[in-house]
Amino acid sequence: MRSELGAALALQLAWGADEALEEDAQDRFAEAAPAGRERAPSARAGGPAPQAAPAAPSGGAVARAEAAAAAAGTLAALREALARFDGCALRETATNLVFADGDPSAPVMLIGEGPGSEEDRAGLPFVGPSGKLLDRMLASIGLSRVRGEIYITNVLPWRPPGNRNPTDAEIAVCLPFLIRHIVLARPRLLVLAGGVPARSLLGAREGITRLRGRWRELALPELEAPIPALPTLHPAYLLRNPGAKRDAWSDLLMLRRRYDGMLPQMRQN
Ligand code: URA
Repeated sequence: MRSELGAALALQLAWGADEALEEDAQDRFAEAAPAGRERAPSARAGGPAPQAAPAAPSGGAVARAEAAAAAAGTLAALREALARFDGCALRETATNLVFADGDPSAPVMLIGEGPGSEEDRAGLPFVGPSGKLLDRMLASIGLSRVRGEIYITNVLPWRPPGNRNPTDAEIAVCLPFLIRHIVLARPRLLVLAGGVPARSLLGAREGITRLRGRWRELALPELEAPIPALPTLHPAYLLRNPGAKRDAWSDLLMLRRRYDGMLPQMRQN
């Protein structure tokens, strides 16, 4: 019996189950919470990581996120506000808050989807296999996060357990913090890596393969001018679909051209 259980556990690990979860994604925000407490209970034991079902955002948690984000006057305060925020159940299963990496005053801000297991352990975005590819892609156009040319963050600051897709509710509750992050960092250009940042910031419905490769604009009331934003393919997608690297390369060249166009102005400031 014991060896059967051990074998079943070993099989789950081999299939990539690295979190104890329920079979179906739960919308904890939709559950009746005790007064004054919306935080989800920890996930219980179950099968392999599920794909998330879309769930409606909770107005209460989103309003609290908006208020907390708006009250943050600096990036350090925003990070603190996120660390204190208990309106997103993802923090319960995450090891670390993953806020950002690179120089916040960098001209380019790249936004990914959410931390994977290595990012969760390190507390830094894009340090796993897709991060390594991202660094090589950026290096191919002469940009680097360590030289202060790129600032990197994610839509979600906590890892969705088992790397499942985030629910609409999780995205909605994290979005006010991301928008405040953009307002405080004031990048000159945005790169939206993958469908989640592209759709959630641009309000688009199409998939990333349709959205990519064209400059859009992100207009925020707190900023004087809209920020040019380039949706592109996520490095994790490129690892699974190497044939798409050609499109990613074309997007990188678009980014480099726009960046070069800004250099004279950046040198003046
Ligand atoms: N994928 C992302 O979108 N972000 C990370 O930080 C890591 C992987």
